[in-house]
Amino acid sequence: MSKTWDIEKFKLSARSAAAEGIVMLENKDGALPLEKNEKIAVFGRAQMNYYKSGTGSGGMVNARYVVGIYEALEASGKFKINKDVRKAYEDFVKENPYESGFGWASEPWYQKEMPIADELVKKAATESDKAIFIIGRTAGEDQDNKATEGSYLLTKEESKALAKVCKAFKHTIVLLNVGNIIDMKWVKECKPSAVLYVWQGGQEGGNAVLDVLSGDVNPSGKLSDTIALDINDYASTRNFGSEKQNFQEEDIYVGYRYFETFDKEKVLYPFGYGLSYTSFDIALGDFSFDKKEGVTLEVLVSNTGDKAGKEVVQVYFEAPNGKLGKAKRVLCGFAKTDVLKPGQCQKLEFDVPKYWMASYDDGGVTGHKSSYVLEEGKYTVYAGSDVRSAEAAGEFSLDKLEVVCECEEAYAPVDKFKRLKAEVAGKDVKKTYEDVPLRTLDPNKKRKDRLPKALKYTGDKGYKLVDVANKKVSLDEFIAQLSDRDLVTMMRGEGMCSPKVTAGIAGAYGGVTDSLSKFGIPVGGCSDGPSGIRMDCGTHAFSLPNGTCLACTFNEDINEELFGWEGLELRKFRIDALLGPGMNIHRSPLNGRNFEYFSEDPFLTGKLVSAQLRGMHKYGVTGVIKHFAGNTQETNRHNVNNVVSERALREIYLKGFEIAVREGGARAVMSTYGPVNGLWTASSYDLLTTILREEWGFDGIVMTDWWAMGNDEANGKGSYANVAAQVRAQNDLNMVNSSAEDNSNKDNLDDAIEKGLVTRDELARCAGNILRFLLKTPAFEHLIGKESALDKELKAAIDEDDASLQDMIKVKFDKKELSLDTKLINTEKGETTVFLLSTPTKCEMDVELVLRADNQPDVAQLPFSIFQDRQLIKTITLTGMDKEWKKFRIKLAPSFLGNFYLKFYFAQSGLVFDSVKVIKTKEM
Ligand code: BGC
Repeated sequence: MSKTWDIEKFKLSARSAAAEGIVMLENKDGALPLEKNEKIAVFGRAQMNYYKSGTGSGGMVNARYVVGIYEALEASGKFKINKDVRKAYEDFVKENPYESGFGWASEPWYQKEMPIADELVKKAATESDKAIFIIGRTAGEDQDNKATEGSYLLTKEESKALAKVCKAFKHTIVLLNVGNIIDMKWVKECKPSAVLYVWQGGQEGGNAVLDVLSGDVNPSGKLSDTIALDINDYASTRNFGSEKQNFQEEDIYVGYRYFETFDKEKVLYPFGYGLSYTSFDIALGDFSFDKKEGVTLEVLVSNTGDKAGKEVVQVYFEAPNGKLGKAKRVLCGFAKTDVLKPGQCQKLEFDVPKYWMASYDDGGVTGHKSSYVLEEGKYTVYAGSDVRSAEAAGEFSLDKLEVVCECEEAYAPVDKFKRLKAEVAGKDVKKTYEDVPLRTLDPNKKRKDRLPKALKYTGDKGYKLVDVANKKVSLDEFIAQLSDRDLVTMMRGEGMCSPKVTAGIAGAYGGVTDSLSKFGIPVGGCSDGPSGIRMDCGTHAFSLPNGTCLACTFNEDINEELFGWEGLELRKFRIDALLGPGMNIHRSPLNGRNFEYFSEDPFLTGKLVSAQLRGMHKYGVTGVIKHFAGNTQETNRHNVNNVVSERALREIYLKGFEIAVREGGARAVMSTYGPVNGLWTASSYDLLTTILREEWGFDGIVMTDWWAMGNDEANGKGSYANVAAQVRAQNDLNMVNSSAEDNSNKDNLDDAIEKGLVTRDELARCAGNILRFLLKTPAFEHLIGKESALDKELKAAIDEDDASLQDMIKVKFDKKELSLDTKLINTEKGETTVFLLSTPTKCEMDVELVLRADNQPDVAQLPFSIFQDRQLIKTITLTGMDKEWKKFRIKLAPSFLGNFYLKFYFAQSGLVFDSVKVIKTKEM
């Protein structure tokens, strides 16, 4: 292994990734970079609460520290910061404290803005040279963004305050600390000098902003989404947000594919756009087309300005409109230069295989149904620094249609609807609508026709999993020993916070029962999520920049490097897989989880996710790419049906995943909560078997999202118990059960085997997928006693338990029973309460807790943990459905020392206690 744990280098890697993701959209009159000692006044309430990430599983990283923007500017000592303005905000938040909501998914997407007094701004404008105005937004799972104030739009208070500052100052620099793009009409109205999307940059985010503002880093981020004039300009808007179903009428015309084809003038900032402090010339060089290999292109980038910097070159193609109808531009290559000094040049080379330029014929209009084809006609390749300015770099023509890849119809819709299609009208392209080709092949029939080969049950022959690793027996021979009961329990992942894996993480799988463990099957662990490791017991971990920010880097190397560190951290905490990256397409700016995801473009997404996977794979751990597939909104995400053509699925919603599997070597996939084309994805044979495994060659594990449904028939009823449908589709793991042994989710597997609704061989096939995965994990290495030098070093690096002992509540425990005052327990998110208990005698004891969810939605996850001294005793996760008081009695370790502490840590608020008692069970 080439690298060892070095937190300082991890910080630098995160800082430079966050800086490279910053996208500068405006910079007039050289407002930026700031000069040394320049006098600045920082406005905007968001200076008081930097958003390091969004909320929910994509953000619950307990970071040791977070550097906000203001803090970074101040600590740098590089500028003279207006103290009166800062004081005004400090006073304001005393009266208007941060509102964090209560419980799961309840944090507001914005915080109340401070009205700015005329005198304050006037005085500040005379004292300070430039104003910085920070606007903040969060977002998260279970809830979408809304095209309303405080979410996609600025609030009235924000607009007013911003307008006032822009008017008073010659130079106002607006920083958007947001998860994904927001409405930008205010740029024309307020005319700030500079506007930068600084995203949610993780714990080093503020430092990254400092680097760009000060000019230490020249911005090189590019938009991973199109910013249109108005939310209604996005073709997806009219079919977004339904509780029941969304017909994806815009089809393949998502983001820039739509705007560049049909509605160019509606674009405010095009896809791929982003400014620099210097200027570049992009000279198009040699272009060639090889009938077998595809296109190669050379581009020479020269820094023509006066500051060093990096530039991104993007390559697009335009295919002939043909019978299928095509988008005018499709990204098929991108690369970032090194830092080029003024006058320096760099040659970039691109290879575009024909497969990336082919379109999927889902209806057979070209005569080649279910195939990727290149229709006859002219193909033009463009290169440049964004989709709009990219210039023709070369072209080639095909005099007849070519079939690039023959596939099988899979996951096509069953409900009739019309989709958008580009039709050539003279020199222009106009919008038409056509019927979407419907499903003609029944996936249930496919499944029956292709049942896996029978493995005769042999009973225990004494083989252990290590014998498979040592090639003493085949995997089939090993699995043949497992009873139906073993197989069934292996399909049940456990969590949250299973004591069988690292404390506080989301899931455990594999050898989760005694019986499975006797076969030498390890328990693998997985934790959230895309922005770093979530450990609900409160252990600290590194918080990364968000998905959109990392996408805007357009830099594979920096993603690979950063996720190399993340891989080491996973390994350090003995976690085998990260539940991320999240890689769904930004179909609409309103998806509440866009902050975790990358882009409206699948090529960019797939390439960068592959880079992140490569980084983690260097250290033997991996990512669980999610949510497969078509999770385009959060509203009613367990039920809402996305109805989408097979072509759009394959060219847009699956394409990034395909790249991550084929190029990134993805080993683990998480299916979504909801249905696509009437079938819950976790039970879609076509998605998980026909496409993922048979077509793309994936041989890893598929797990459900946490508590997800399955159904048997398109548009049939979904049920949480229908795990048999998931197993049939090769969704190997149903996540999560509190006990696999006890079938705590009450799934239908036993019954389904008895009725022949799922075969033993199908269970065995999933077991094979799980075991093949486990054989490659650190968990397996540890089980068989392999410990590398790296493992030893990482173990030593685990920090001491960091319970804050300063505010301990001291109590005497001198009777048989002690009731702790529940009013003293701070149940807010991220809070810790510590009781120091003094016992005069040695004793054994239990803790008894009575608690419930406090008015939370049913889907809420409400974890909290109890530690005794440095030891995690238990993490309990209630859900919003736990509305009645629930009693837990947990054994504590004996007290020998006279003093011990009990620490309560809340990874999420939303719980209420009736009582907490410590009960002596034995005096010693
Ligand atoms: C999210 C997943 C996450 C899982 C485990 C779910 O609510 O949708 O993305 O990995 O919880 O925390």
